[in-house]
Amino acid sequence: MKTTIILTTTTFLLLLVGLQFALGDNDGEKRFGNTFKRSPDVASVNNQAYINECGSCHMAYPPGLLPKRSWKKLMNGLEDHFEDNAELEADVETEISQYLFNNSADNSDYRRSRKIMRTLAFDETPLRITEIAYIRREHNKIPTAMIKHNNKVVSLSNCTACHQNADKGSFSERDISIPGYAGWED
Ligand code: HEC
Ligand code: HEC
Repeated sequence: MKTTIILTTTTFLLLLVGLQFALGDNDGEKRFGNTFKRSPDVASVNNQAYINECGSCHMAYPPGLLPKRSWKKLMNGLEDHFEDNAELEADVETEISQYLFNNSADNSDYRRSRKIMRTLAFDETPLRITEIAYIRREHNKIPTAMIKHNNKVVSLSNCTACHQNADKGSFSERDISIPGYAGWED
């Protein structure tokens, strides 16, 4: 009787460990510890120069949301960046470019990055994440009152207003709350 209990407990623990391995496939982050982390949609933002320089006017967008060719085009036009000047010192610009290129959607295994690459035409070079058809489609049911006419959001480009863990790469429905509209349901 005792042996059966011990055996059952052992099997259960082994299953738990196996489950953590199985779910942790494309995350790249350590998942052993007390907390069980959910796998994010894109890689989290983890370059300090990028966060400092490109996160001062808007969130430092996760690099896995655009292909390398888009980051290249953006980094080559920083003096006229959506009517702002976002020019950088040459060495900082090189570091940030490298980070963005190495972690771009076409260099990432995360599921939203792969999805973005699958839905973009090969000759499409969007300068905005919000211009990607797949991203637009995911948001097309949200009324304008909740975005444009909501002074806590204003623009779809303001991801962090609704996706609280966007910087950690999570766009999961469990991490969404639209300011002023509790409990958004599809
Ligand atoms: C001086 C302010 C400023 C800085 C610094 C800045 N940006 Fe921007 N960025 C803007 C503005 C303004 C927009 C347009 C936002 C809008 O339309 O709501 C924008 C938009 C973007 C978008 C498109 C967002 C969308 O709609 O999908 C990307 C990508 C982007 N910036 C990347 C960068 C990168 C990379 C850097 C650093 C090299 C950077 N930005 C630094 C002001 C800035
Ligand atoms: C006004 C709030 C709001 C803003 C701003 C916003 N989103 Fe969303 N997003 C949502 C909601 C709500 C959904 C879920 C839509 C549904 O369930 O129909 C969603 C869904 C998504 C999804 C699909 C997630 C899934 O599990 O299918 C992705 C990816 C995403 N958003 C990325 C972004 C990015 C990137 C930005 C910024 C460039 C952004 N969102 C800005 C509210 C927002």
